[in-house]
Amino acid sequence: MTSQSLDINSNDLIHWFNAIRNLPNNERTRALDATWSGQIQSKAWLVNCLKPLVTIDSNAYIFGGWIGLLANLMFQNLPIKKIRSIDIDPWCESVADMVNKPYEMNNWRFKSITCDMMNYEYDYDITSDIVINTSSEHIDQSTYDNWFDKIHHDSLIVVQGNNFFDCHEHIRCSTDLNDFENMNNVYNPLFSGQFHTDQYTRYMSIWRK
Ligand SMILES: C[S@@+](CC[C@H](N)C(=O)[O-])C[C@H]1O[C@@H](n2cnc3c(N)ncnc32)[C@H](O)[C@@H]1O
Repeated sequence: MTSQSLDINSNDLIHWFNAIRNLPNNERTRALDATWSGQIQSKAWLVNCLKPLVTIDSNAYIFGGWIGLLANLMFQNLPIKKIRSIDIDPWCESVADMVNKPYEMNNWRFKSITCDMMNYEYDYDITSDIVINTSSEHIDQSTYDNWFDKIHHDSLIVVQGNNFFDCHEHIRCSTDLNDFENMNNVYNPLFSGQFHTDQYTRYMSIWRK
C-alpha cells in the first residue's frame, strides 16, 4: 500500500478523536472501523485524485458517508462549500456531525442525513457539483441503479468499490477494474484506477454524467 499524503489540521483531528472518545464503550470499536489504514488511505487517494478536477468552490454529496471522515478530509484539502453526507444507518448521523462539528456550526456547511441513498431527494439550494459513493460494494444492483438514475446531468461522479469478497457485508464486489467500470455505468472516465491495500484492491472511477 503506497502512502497518500494530505493536509490534516490539528483542530479537525481533535474533533475526530473527541467524537470517538465520547461514544459509549460498545460503540467506540464500531467507529474505529472507519480508521483502518485501508479506509483512510482510500479516502486520501480519492481526495488527491479530485484535486486537479475540483478547482472552483463546489458542493458535494457523499452517499454511504459513514462517520464523515471523507467529508472532513475534503473540507481540509479541496475548495468545498457544503457537504451533505447520507447514510442509511441512523447511528452514523450524530457521530458524523460530531466529527465535522466546526463545519456543521459554520452555517451548516456539513450535515449528516439518515436516508437510503436510492430514496434521497437532493437539496434544491445545494448544487450537486460532486456526487460520491464509496460504499458501492454494500448495496445491491437495483439500489445502485436507482441511486445513479437520480444523479443530475453534469455532476462529477466518484465511485469506489473493491474486490474484498470475504467480508460478509460486501454484496457487490468487483473482480477487477474492468468489471467495476461495467457494473457502475462508468462512461468516459476522467480517472479510473486501483489502489492496493494489505487486504484487498480498491477501485475508483471519476466521470461526468
Ligand atoms: C462500512 S461503510 C463504508 C465502506 C466504504 N468502504 C467506505 O470507506 O466508505 C458502508 C456504509 O454504507 C452505508 N449504507 C449501506 N447501504 C446504504 C444505502 N442503501 N443508503 C445509504 N447508505 C448505505 C452503511 O450504513 C455504512 O455506513
